Amino acid sequence: MAINAGHLKNVIAMKVLTTAKEVKEHYRVCVLRYPGFVPTMGALHEGHMSLVKKAVDNCRMAAVSIFVNPTQFNDPDDLAKYPRTLEADLQMLSGYLRENDFVFTPSVEEIYPEPDTRQFDFGNLDKVMEGLHRPGHFNGVAQVVSRLFDIIRPSCAFFGQKDFQQLTIIRELARQHYPKLEIIACPILREPDGLAMSSRNRRLLAQHRDRAGEIYRTLIASGAMISDYEITEIKEFVADRINMIPDFRLEYFEIVEEKTLSPVRAVIEMSPDKKYFACIALRAGEIRLIDNIEVELR
Ligand code: PAF
Repeated sequence: MAINAGHLKNVIAMKVLTTAKEVKEHYRVCVLRYPGFVPTMGALHEGHMSLVKKAVDNCRMAAVSIFVNPTQFNDPDDLAKYPRTLEADLQMLSGYLRENDFVFTPSVEEIYPEPDTRQFDFGNLDKVMEGLHRPGHFNGVAQVVSRLFDIIRPSCAFFGQKDFQQLTIIRELARQHYPKLEIIACPILREPDGLAMSSRNRRLLAQHRDRAGEIYRTLIASGAMISDYEITEIKEFVADRINMIPDFRLEYFEIVEEKTLSPVRAVIEMSPDKKYFACIALRAGEIRLIDNIEVELR
């Protein structure tokens, strides 16, 4: 989306750059570079702002990108309906960013001057959960994130833990291609009823939003079952509890090991030295939601 002066009338002090060339020029002029970087797809909420705040607090320069990346959407309808709220996003960021910080809002042509045919290899990390349900999604995420890393050249990048599998895959991307880059995980921010903050929440119908706090309560309950129940029983419990909410449909529920993302098949496999996360994906009406919590053996 092109940015015109009207969009920027209230946020004029903030640098909004749209091309790699402008980013390079900005680094030259302010004699700073290697910012702390927060990549986003816009429709910003408090969860994003907690990442931005962390970048500002910890780095001499911060950069935030807003780009709805077409290559990570396997469903064209989802891409078309993804909320785009650039003016409000810039307004929100203007309250946080400093003089040398900047927002990067490239066009699709700027990021993909030609089709990106790169195929990334993440071993088994993208063969489970989201990877099974959204084929090609993580390859698309890796394409855009690597392109953004190449343009922004950050010293560290901030990612939310709500996208738990994405975070693990980005860590692997950094390990393979950007060994000096520090990936910083930021905790999930939740609404008062426990619903994880997400840009997609604003698309929930009122009756679905009212019931969505049940997702977090179900995750908490599943975590409490770990020491006394088998994984199949916990999965059944979660499926029953989610599917009994009108218009809610469970896509998957897995308990996975933090680093390999291998799904746990039996509680006896779990090691006290490792961390495990219960991960859920479901549809609330038409809207797809994901969430996760860490679970511990007692
Ligand atoms: O988590 C997101 O918002 C996106 O997947 C990301 C990392 C900005 C890449 O488009």
